[in-house]
Amino acid sequence: MSPRQATVPAFAKINLGLRILYKRPDNYHELRTVFQTISLADTLTLRFEPADQTSVVIEGTPEIPDNLVERAARLLLDQMGRSGAVHCVLTKRIPSGAGLGGGSSDAAAVLLALPALIGQPVPMSNLAALGAKLGSDVPFFLYGGTALGLGRGEELYPLPDYPQQKGLLVTPPVHSSTPEAYKAISAGLTSISLQNKLERFQQEVWQGASSLDGNDFEGVVFARHPELQGIKNGLLGAGAAFSAMSGSGSSVFGFFPSDEGVELAAKALHQYPSHPFRLIHRAEYRQLWADALGYSGSIQNLTTGTEWPPQNPQE
Ligand code: C5P
Repeated sequence: MSPRQATVPAFAKINLGLRILYKRPDNYHELRTVFQTISLADTLTLRFEPADQTSVVIEGTPEIPDNLVERAARLLLDQMGRSGAVHCVLTKRIPSGAGLGGGSSDAAAVLLALPALIGQPVPMSNLAALGAKLGSDVPFFLYGGTALGLGRGEELYPLPDYPQQKGLLVTPPVHSSTPEAYKAISAGLTSISLQNKLERFQQEVWQGASSLDGNDFEGVVFARHPELQGIKNGLLGAGAAFSAMSGSGSSVFGFFPSDEGVELAAKALHQYPSHPFRLIHRAEYRQLWADALGYSGSIQNLTTGTEWPPQNPQE
């Protein structure tokens, strides 16, 4: 019997590197990025009851206009040819407007949980297409771990796990608008900078962990919110080996050589909320999902299956 209720994690992401190349005819920007899931997470408790009409109730968080959780549930049920009552208790820990993909991760969590609750597997490619409709970052959260994102971020390729880190994420109360950040950066994009960026990014990814080199949004977003530059300086000054803003901001993270370094940095930046974190690699990401949904098969099937959820071996 499939469970009808499950409590699932929705992890945040950071961008280990992010290059904006050019504005496309569809008004999105072509980008190259390395996504990474981290241990900061929302939690969703989802329940599904078959019914003639679909309804979606979300509890536990103030009303969010155009909530991606509701849109994800409705789109998926429509595509599966099902209807029913979806009830979701959402415990938010990932701040919004922070470049951490919180809303996108919540939406992906709905796409992964509902097929298991309903007991009807869905091709991963369908989930990825639905995810891309909901937002550029959503498909990444179907896979997690370390991944290369191309296009508008929805075209994904798995990368080897980035080495584990002792991270500190600083989340100042600054809401950075993604469309505004793209607008601001658009003006400065030239064909010369495009070629340079492509070559540099290619080199960074080939050379792996040691050479990733930050985020193109920092210039325009730091100009608007100078305190973010101050936070990055603070993290580096406290001993971070690497620091960058995530996505279009406003959160800034640092990687430290030791737990003491993380603690010292949090103290140095005590006026801001901060969260120590570690990286969530792809196998762990999938394993946590498997545990949450009661899957008992091999992890190999979980990471390479073409349908979600994979069948339990005894079924
Ligand atoms: O895809 P998503 O809904 O997350 O994007 C929000 C907004 O960010 C888009 O409407 C667009 O203005 C901008 N965007 C962009 N290029 C991307 C991703 C997002 O211009 N690659």
